[in-house]
Amino acid sequence: MIETRFTRLFGLERPIVQGGLAHLAYAGLAAAVSNAGGLGQITVASFPDRETLRAEIHSCRGMTDKPFSLNFALGQRPLDDLLDLALEEGVRHVSFTAGNPEAMIKQIQNSGLENEVKILVLVAGVRAAQKAESLGAHTVIAVGYEGGGHLGRDDIGSLVLIPRILDAVKIPVLASGGIGDKRGYAAALALGADGIEMGTRFVATRECIAHANYKQALVAAQETQTVVIERSIGRPARVLQGEWPAKIAALEASDPPPNIQDLLPFIAGERNKRAALEGVLDEGFVWAGQVAGLIHDVPTVRELLDRMSDGAEETFRKLAANIRPA
Ligand SMILES: Cc1cc2nc3c(=O)[nH]c(=O)nc-3n(C[C@H](O)[C@H](O)[C@H](O)COP(=O)(O)O)c2cc1C
Repeated sequence: MIETRFTRLFGLERPIVQGGLAHLAYAGLAAAVSNAGGLGQITVASFPDRETLRAEIHSCRGMTDKPFSLNFALGQRPLDDLLDLALEEGVRHVSFTAGNPEAMIKQIQNSGLENEVKILVLVAGVRAAQKAESLGAHTVIAVGYEGGGHLGRDDIGSLVLIPRILDAVKIPVLASGGIGDKRGYAAALALGADGIEMGTRFVATRECIAHANYKQALVAAQETQTVVIERSIGRPARVLQGEWPAKIAALEASDPPPNIQDLLPFIAGERNKRAALEGVLDEGFVWAGQVAGLIHDVPTVRELLDRMSDGAEETFRKLAANIRPA
């Protein structure tokens, strides 16, 4: 068993978090991850209102008695109402990404549940990690440039970002971006991380509702077959290469550069949702990290986490056996 500050603080068996996954992270996947000892997450942005989110929380509770988290992607629409609902429903783990989490963290602190709710904040740089810590986050997730979905603007890879953030904050740090097998997991722990978060790897699991075409595209992809889009509008994000992303790239490279109105029809959430859920990859885009090059199958969540945990432990045992007295 790999125990860290993070597993103790969050009450988990394994220091492994399933990333918020736009359009893909519902109760089924979250419960599977939590039942396998990690921390599953439901992505709040997928729910239009309090009642649909409440039903999803109840559905998740019906599938697991383990802790799970709600992921709040900020900056698109106000989510304070849904945070209230989550607290009301007894959710005690939340994560924030893609925006300033200050108001949401204050909302938790003012709710009187400050000592019960555990807060994760995704960051891609030292300053954001320090800010999250000063606001009251309990753990930061450091997401490197290899990752799938939205990224930081500084293009810092995980191998440098994680130790930099570990040196800058006292709270636990999870490593994210580019992790998909036992080697990445062991490497993250060896860097000093208190655990890991994975996004792309969880898309290619049986319990994820992603279309089979998306999962097969991840299995087939090399590490060279992702591309960063939306940089021209200041919010870089990594997707799987394809016809549609190539159109986006061409538009973004045009002179003068496009404004957001020109880009919107190409990068709209619906384009992502249809491709991810209906498998029409040529008419949209799907988020994916460079770790796609390390994904060769579509296991169950439990198979994946057992394999990674056993493998990481074995790696550490082997490494320890190699150390000889001087
Ligand atoms: C399909 C997909 C959708 C994502 N959507 C979200 C999201 O809604 N909220 C979030 O916090 N992160 C989101 N991310 C980022 C992941 O949570 C995670 O930080 C990232 O995938 C880590 O890099 P990896 O893909 O190399 O594991 C998404 C990533 C992917 C691949």
